[in-house]
Amino acid sequence: MKTIDDLDVAGKRVLVRADLNVPLDGTRITDDGRIRASVPTLKALLERGAKVIVTAHLGRPKGVDPEADAKYSLAPVAVRLAELLGKPVAFATDTVGASAQATVAALQDGEIALLENVRFNPAETSKDAVERGKFADELAKFGDLFVSDGFGAVHRRHASVYDVAEDLPNAAGYLIATELGVLKKLTEDVQRPYVVVLGGSKVSDKLGVIDNLLDKADRILIGGGMVFTFLKAQGHEVGKSLLQEDQIPVVLEYLERAKAKGVEFVLPVDVIGSTEFPDLKTKAPSSPVTSPVDAIPADVLGLDIGPESRKLFAAKLADAATIFWNGPMGVFEHPDFADGTRAVAQALVDSSAFSVVGGGDSAAAVRILGFDENAFGHISTGGGASLEYLEGKSLPGLAALEN
Ligand code: 3PG
Ligand code: MG
Repeated sequence: MKTIDDLDVAGKRVLVRADLNVPLDGTRITDDGRIRASVPTLKALLERGAKVIVTAHLGRPKGVDPEADAKYSLAPVAVRLAELLGKPVAFATDTVGASAQATVAALQDGEIALLENVRFNPAETSKDAVERGKFADELAKFGDLFVSDGFGAVHRRHASVYDVAEDLPNAAGYLIATELGVLKKLTEDVQRPYVVVLGGSKVSDKLGVIDNLLDKADRILIGGGMVFTFLKAQGHEVGKSLLQEDQIPVVLEYLERAKAKGVEFVLPVDVIGSTEFPDLKTKAPSSPVTSPVDAIPADVLGLDIGPESRKLFAAKLADAATIFWNGPMGVFEHPDFADGTRAVAQALVDSSAFSVVGGGDSAAAVRILGFDENAFGHISTGGGASLEYLEGKSLPGLAALEN
């Protein structure tokens, strides 16, 4: 794959697609991991004398007006990016309109601008290739070259990720190159035992990756909201817990196939829950209840894996040579339900395995819970993108790039 080292960028306008989709509390960025991960490519381009124009998304705005939909504005990201780069970041208040045009026109060599959330233009995510293509053409007018570095969005067939690569000579940025190098280690010549930990709320989001991992992993640990569909499939009552009843047959089939292939499936043996979903804003105490999985009370919803499960999961990770972890074990945003996620993070830290944390939520969890990022092999910026890669799918944003 061509990278920015193969491009002559001095004096050129370089349009960069970054993934700056960070969690915000109002205008406060609660985890700037994706911004920091974007810095090496931007720095390199600036140092080499490029004019850098960054396009990116934040959340999934329904409207088209950045003022009316201010919570989706990239304005706070521009401020943080300027701090990290140690230089001003000009901010355009639209995507390809008058503000963007004036901002780009004013850039000098070695200067950088960020355009407003590209998803304020509905053509960005349109299913209609012609509509997307037209918008991509507008974006492409801002650049002489295109650099794709938004790894977390490369699984999206969007104008700024996919179509724009058709319009301009292009290359991958350092973040994409790094992420792909790591994912290769999880798919080719994997060091064994290879243990995968999956969490998160919806089992339906993880079916593809489980399907593929049944041929690759030695052991699969399941936590998070999706675990209750597994527990129900095994005949346990799960109270008021999250359940995807329609997925039970699929889950049963996976459990059967895992057995046939000798892949060990590890489910929690106990859970921590409460009669109400906790208040994540006030973080008010929530009267947590711990119960074995065969005795979850009818009025309780499970919100984390329990203490015996934490020990079990740590033991199942201890001998791993390769670990991939995607998805928190519980509602880690509330202190009563963070211990499961913390225990898995600690097991990765204690392990001598090559450990990869994938997914916006688990990556944010690791940092929010105060772990040192350097204690992990790699913290990926891609949730869906990593999962789809591991599913063996072709990722549009990568397929579009020149070799
Ligand atoms: C992410 O947060 O996973 C990426 O930024 C992609 O965002 P999306 O899921 O809204 O396309
Ligand atoms: Mg086009």
